[in-house]
Formats: sequence, C-alpha cells, structure tokens
Amino acid sequence: MKPRKSVALVTGAPSGIGKATAERLTTAGYTVYGTSRRGAQASQQRFAMLSLT
Ligand SMILES: NC(=O)c1ccc[n+]([C@@H]2O[C@H](COP(=O)([O-])OP(=O)(O)OC[C@H]3O[C@@H](n4cnc5c(N)ncnc54)[C@H](OP(=O)(O)O)[C@@H]3O)[C@@H](O)[C@H]2O)c1
Repeated sequence: MKPRKSVALVTGAPSGIGKATAERLTTAGYTVYGTSRRGAQASQQRFAMLSLT
C-alpha cells in the first residue's frame, strides 16, 4: 500500500515561531500550508500561504 503524504497546517506562518515551524516541516518533507491574516502574499515563503482575510 502506498504511504499517504503528510500534510501540515500552520497558523501565524508569516513570521516568528509559525514561520520557523512551517520551514522545518517543509524541510522534513511535509506538504505545508501556512495561514496569514495579512493575506496570501504576506511574503515569499517555501510553502503555500493561505489568506484568512
Ligand atoms: N519568539 C520567541 O522567542 C517567543 C518566546 C516566548 C514566547 N513567545 C510568544 O509566542 C507567540 C508567538 O511568537 P512569535 O515570535 O512567533 O510572534 P510573531 O512573529 O509576532 O507572530 C507570528 C505570526 O502570528 C500571527 N499573529 C500575531 N498576532 C496574532 C493574533 N493576535 N492572532 C492571530 N494571529 C496572530 C502573525 O501572522 P498574521 O498576522 O499574518 O496572521 C504573525 O506573523 C507570542 O505570543 C510571543 O509572545 C515568543
């Protein structure tokens, strides 16, 4: 059976602890979705950013 791909959702992902967590999970092979209240274009990231606005 094919292993399922791990997905992580990280809130507060544009900066600080949220950004560090999202980057670590990306490096570890997770498909990461970050959220931001400032919009999906808050800044360039290595993971997908979802807007909460
Ligand atoms: N950094 C440290 O070393 C440290 C140490 C001990 C405790 N803390 C505490 O841990 C928390 C996070 O620290 P951090 O350095 O990662 O903070 P941060 O950089 O200020 O916040 C990280 C992200 O969280 C989102 N955010 C900020 N305030 C929010 C709110 N009121 N509601 C929802 N989302 C919010 C912001 O993204 P959007 O606005 O785009 O959504 C921001 O990019 C803080 O409460 C801080 O006091 C931090």
